[in-house]
Amino acid sequence: MLVLNDVHKTYQMGETQVRALRGVSLELPPAQFSVIMGHSGSGKSTLMHLAGCLDVPTSGHVEYGGMDLTTLSSRERADFRSSEVGFVFQKYNLVGNLTALENVALPLLLRNTTAKQAQAQAREALDLVGLKERMTHRPAKLSGGEQQRVAIARSLVNDPTMILADEPTGNLDTTTGERILKLLRRFTDNDKIVLVVTHNPEIADMADRVVYLRDGQVESQQFQEVAR
Ligand SMILES: Nc1ncnc2c1ncn2[C@@H]1O[C@H](COP(=O)(O)OP(=O)(O)O)[C@@H](O)[C@H]1O
Ligand SMILES: [Mg+2]
Repeated sequence: MLVLNDVHKTYQMGETQVRALRGVSLELPPAQFSVIMGHSGSGKSTLMHLAGCLDVPTSGHVEYGGMDLTTLSSRERADFRSSEVGFVFQKYNLVGNLTALENVALPLLLRNTTAKQAQAQAREALDLVGLKERMTHRPAKLSGGEQQRVAIARSLVNDPTMILADEPTGNLDTTTGERILKLLRRFTDNDKIVLVVTHNPEIADMADRVVYLRDGQVESQQFQEVAR
């Protein structure tokens, strides 16, 4: 369970303060596909950063599996991220001169996994996103949807328990975007928490829960039964 308890985040911009989150409380259980919607500037990305332990709140608490993430050192936060969190961004952030396989293996190599083991896990992750046939291609040779699937494979290669995707389909056409979201949703079958920021109402229809943010606060939450 990921719990945000009265989370505030204020950015200092020179003389002015930007109150990006103003008292957000949420409880996200495993095996749930949740979507965050809200206008630009409503605090969606800030919320994702705090959920994924990329940043710390100004006040309030973020807890994961009973552990208070706000008390961790920066080293412990990095460890938490690399073992528990898979990030997917709008920009795929793939390394241009590496193949799909090498891109996916990279996080493992950075964690001192042996090259052989990293390759095996990367193959498996690429297989999961349906890209086994494209493993030796460099990003430039892949479509936008394929590149995002490589990025998803990379985010999954550590077998994280939480997948955070910030507008993952922003650069994709609607059909490809929906395919990507269905793929992300599948990981809730393995008890993962999947949290996705999107502007697409059709994607929100696929979610177990839709959280609407407005001016740094949860304006409303909608729970829905979705066919799987
Ligand atoms: N690193 C930062 N420094 C200063 N202000 C920021 C920073 N990140 C976000 N903000 C501000 O915080 C508010 C919320 O931003 P953000 O979380 O990115 O919203 P969203 O993702 O919903 O567009 C905005 O006003 C934005 O300008
Ligand atoms: Mg954003």
